[in-house]
Amino acid sequence: MKKLFGVIGDPISHSMSPAMHNDLFKAYSIDAHYQLFHITKENLPDAIKGFRAIGIEGFNVTVPHKEAIIPLLDELDPLAESIGAVNTVVNQDGRLKGYNTDGSGYLKGLLNHKHSLNDKKMLIVGAGGAARAIYFTIAKEGTELLDICNRTPRRAEQIINDCPFRVPARVLNRQEAEGNLETYDIIVQTTSIGMHPETDQSPLSLHKLKPGSFVSDIIYNPLETKLLKEAHSKGAGIQNGIDMFVYQGALAFEKWTGIVPDIERMRHKVLNQLG
Ligand code: ATR
Repeated sequence: MKKLFGVIGDPISHSMSPAMHNDLFKAYSIDAHYQLFHITKENLPDAIKGFRAIGIEGFNVTVPHKEAIIPLLDELDPLAESIGAVNTVVNQDGRLKGYNTDGSGYLKGLLNHKHSLNDKKMLIVGAGGAARAIYFTIAKEGTELLDICNRTPRRAEQIINDCPFRVPARVLNRQEAEGNLETYDIIVQTTSIGMHPETDQSPLSLHKLKPGSFVSDIIYNPLETKLLKEAHSKGAGIQNGIDMFVYQGALAFEKWTGIVPDIERMRHKVLNQLG
């Protein structure tokens, strides 16, 4: 019988995950289908019950369910537990186990560009769910400095305090971050600022960007945000959000099938979908 996988969220219709995973099932001759499930907050408990009943093999979880799903699962991976959010669920003989591959997917993409983070000074812009997963994963990996700049400083402080992996870290406001920019080797942009359709927005001015630094934006629509354009024009290395999206999907696929998928094929498929 065809194995069933999917993604739950609200909204969900624009997800590129079905195209990416169904293409992988085809490539590896796996008799499976990956389906979009539009699930509202109110319907989440019933949806999970239904998934158990039909024996779904695994699924991804996106906004707004990444935290709310936790009490509905049987088991949690330790990293997902400390982050407090799940984006991937595996059905292990009827037990639903939650993982978070957002941060680890981000880290994999970053390590393609930077071989080690141990001697790097980093700035994370934003303190939402994505920033939290990325902060915890990078802190676990270890880095020389991991500052956070956010409009609401309390949220940044909360991330640093909650993180079980200790690294030198400070909370900065936008002005302080812009004034101290020459400190950083790597800047990671995790907010929605600059995303389509508001592509003329940028969360940070890069006047004081250190020569040879690297700027990474988790947005992939557009492929080059205003921030990345400015970084590129200043000679910095840049990375858009395609890597994080593709690697979080690759790590989920590996947990479901045991196969390490072809990243270039996935990247190609996603870029095609974006048009
Ligand atoms: P996600 O889970 O996708 O990361 P989120 O939890 O809503 O989303 O977080 C969004 C991030 O973008 C936050 O850091 C938010 O800043 P606040 O914590 O101050 O709300 C940031 N953000 C969104 N819109 C912003 C804006 N117009 N100006 C500054 N920061 C903004």
